[in-house]
Amino acid sequence: MNLPTRVKLVDVGPRDGLQNEKAPVPAAVKIELVHRLQDAGLTEIEVTSFVSPKWVPQMADAPEVMAGIKRKPGVRYSVLTPNMKGFEACLSSRPDEIVVFAAASEAFSQRNINCSIAESIERFRPVVEAARASGIYVRGAMSCTVGCPYEGEVAPQQVGRLAALMKGIGVQHIGVADTIGVGTPVKVQRAIEATLEHYDLNDISGHFHDTYGQALANTLAALEVGVWQYDTSSAGLGGCPFAKGATGNVATEDVVYLLHGMEIDTGIDLDKLIDAGQYISDFLGRKPNSRAATALLNKRATA
Ligand code: HMG
Ligand code: MG
Repeated sequence: MNLPTRVKLVDVGPRDGLQNEKAPVPAAVKIELVHRLQDAGLTEIEVTSFVSPKWVPQMADAPEVMAGIKRKPGVRYSVLTPNMKGFEACLSSRPDEIVVFAAASEAFSQRNINCSIAESIERFRPVVEAARASGIYVRGAMSCTVGCPYEGEVAPQQVGRLAALMKGIGVQHIGVADTIGVGTPVKVQRAIEATLEHYDLNDISGHFHDTYGQALANTLAALEVGVWQYDTSSAGLGGCPFAKGATGNVATEDVVYLLHGMEIDTGIDLDKLIDAGQYISDFLGRKPNSRAATALLNKRATA
């Protein structure tokens, strides 16, 4: 075991979480969530997506959300950009990082971004080039690295092939995503190992949805192979409109509780994080989807 002593969490709740809500969430609420997350100590926040509003109407307010954020020094703000149109649209928002997102399965690539894997790489190529030329860091996301809602099991070789393609066009950091939360620890480790053939350990993160309740176990499995960067979502928000049945990302609160319990530093104040999760959950009219948040809120209520 090669456990890291410090872990960096990227809260993707404002993007992955709120892209999947049926009822509209006003830009002001998204902005307030970002503010609360940065006040809780998050130093990386995935804020929004510059995607087609016909495909994902929930993210149509991306420019407004980015413009409304009071930036905190030391915090980095990222946005998803699937093509040059999205990249050009995001520029005036001055993101620190953009995310190009591909899939390890052909069927999901078609459903999510309406093109094949090979076509997606050709679309990303000029985006990556333009972003890097403007000094914007480029992260890549690889969806369906263990399972696909349309094709079933995904082999590690498919993950390795995609990682090589992303590396080949200059994507600097790569996320290994279990989009539909079907992964279990050994399968997730295999997807990471396939990625490690092309990316340095320091340039890999985990992104685990919790559909089958495995995301925390998968996080621990990834920690054991040394991965120290994770996308997580406050209050366990999340899902993808093109991955039916998939639930949210692993809750940031649960991962912080796990890490702090293992004496792994995150720089995050769990109490303030719980308040942020409760803020957005209250707005959405439901309880936070985090066991740690629920337990600690119950404890507060009886204190
Ligand atoms: P398309 O229909 O093939 O695109 O969609 P197109 O280039 O043919 O353009 C069609 C129309 O969309 C045109 O408008 C374009 O201008 C417009 P029209 O002329 O019809 O009025 N358009 C855009 N508008 C705004 N911003 C843009 C943009 N691009 C085109 N960037 C496209 C292709 C990629 C655009 C579409 O499929 C799309 O937007 N998909 C987004 C899907 C998405 O956001 N999925 C969720 C995020 S990924 C995720 O959640 C997974 C992740 O969490 C990891 C994991 O868990 O796996 C990251
Ligand atoms: Mg996701």
